[in-house]
Amino acid sequence: MLSMASMSDRIPTFLVLFLLFCCVQGQMNQNFYQKSCPNLQTIVRSVVSQAIATEARMGASLLRLFFHDCFVQGCDASILLDDTQTFTGEKTAFPNVNSVRGYEVIDAIKSQVEASCQATVSCADIVALAARDSVNLLGGPTWNVALGRRDARTASLSQANSDLPGPGSSLSTLISMFNAKNLSAQDMTVLSGAHTIGQGQCFLFRDRIYNDVNINASFAALRQQTCPISGNDSNLAPIDVQSPVTFDNAYYVNLVNQKGMFHSDQELFNGGSQDSLVQQYSTDSAAFFTAFAKSMVRLGGITPLTGKSGEIRLNCRTVN
Ligand code: HEM
Ligand SMILES: *[C@@H]1O[C@H](CO)[C@@H](O)[C@H](O)[C@H]1NC(C)=O
Ligand SMILES: *[C@@H]1O[C@H](CO)[C@@H](O)[C@H](O)[C@H]1NC(C)=O
Ligand SMILES: *[C@@H]1O[C@H](CO)[C@@H](O)[C@H](O)[C@H]1NC(C)=O
Repeated sequence: MLSMASMSDRIPTFLVLFLLFCCVQGQMNQNFYQKSCPNLQTIVRSVVSQAIATEARMGASLLRLFFHDCFVQGCDASILLDDTQTFTGEKTAFPNVNSVRGYEVIDAIKSQVEASCQATVSCADIVALAARDSVNLLGGPTWNVALGRRDARTASLSQANSDLPGPGSSLSTLISMFNAKNLSAQDMTVLSGAHTIGQGQCFLFRDRIYNDVNINASFAALRQQTCPISGNDSNLAPIDVQSPVTFDNAYYVNLVNQKGMFHSDQELFNGGSQDSLVQQYSTDSAAFFTAFAKSMVRLGGITPLTGKSGEIRLNCRTVN
């Protein structure tokens, strides 16, 4: 009989890599719940649609929820776990606290999904579908979501604090934080186009509108009207000055016009490596939509739990 050591000597590296790739990704596919929960996608879209009809911004909030889930321990719904007396999750991390929204919408989807197919669909897959539908319902592209993620039994406050980029980040920091998740600089620039929807708080763009020089003066003056030099930290402004509740390519038009809302946004068009891509997307929304769909699939592939790992939570806020 072959020992493990001599077997591994015989197995070519490419085969090992192929098997790793196939079996990490391979358990996920878009038809994962086709038999076990045929109404899943209809339920998710209808609840998201109602939530957006009530408040268009909720589409943006659900998209961001997915990003903040996937960048911390992978797309495993770790962000949804509530703190308890004996458990500290990710909700109080600096990038999340008083900022990430949409938890109630995920709860509403989950309770309808549980009513229809009990103990079958993960919260992580619900978050991925809700992000996709949000983009599409606000006018953006759609794509097939590979399903079969499972839910974490853990969360990481420290990773939530260290792995999510902040609004003061430089281009090189943004690129390396995405590289750390196996996403390219192009994925980073494309996914940043999510900032074509949603709102941001004054204290997160104050430095930009008072201290940056690569900003359109009338745009800075406009934002200063509701974001004073001190105080009123949580006053909101739309991230996309042109069309805040429409998923379009206006984010890139803004960057070309030096109207990026966060310092990190304008870093993508400030004489660096991403300028030409920003320029292209500013004039070609079809190219942006195609690229966005592809990069969202890659975002959704960050270290999912599959197979027998993790669990299917019954309540997205607590482990079983
Ligand atoms: C590239 C690095 C990124 C940085 C530095 C960044 C930073 C921020 C900041 C500071 C806010 C405002 C939060 C607040 O005011 O409470 C925000 C909002 C938002 N971000 Fe990002 N973000 C990045 C990438 C992304 C990605 C990849 C996505 C999704 C694919 C995304 C989607 C959103 C959305 C939709 C909002 C608005 C949320 C709402 O209105 O509730 N962001 N982001
Ligand atoms: C990135 O890819 C490497 C090599 O395939 C893998 O070991 C690592 O887990 C991946 N990291 C993420 C966050 O996907
Ligand atoms: C800044 O934006 C305003 C309003 O869109 C525009 O009229 C002006 O030309 C811009 N300024 C510069 C220097 O581009
Ligand atoms: C700032 O907050 C104060 C007190 O809440 C309020 O009266 C004032 O109108 C706010 N200013 C701006 C620019 O929002």
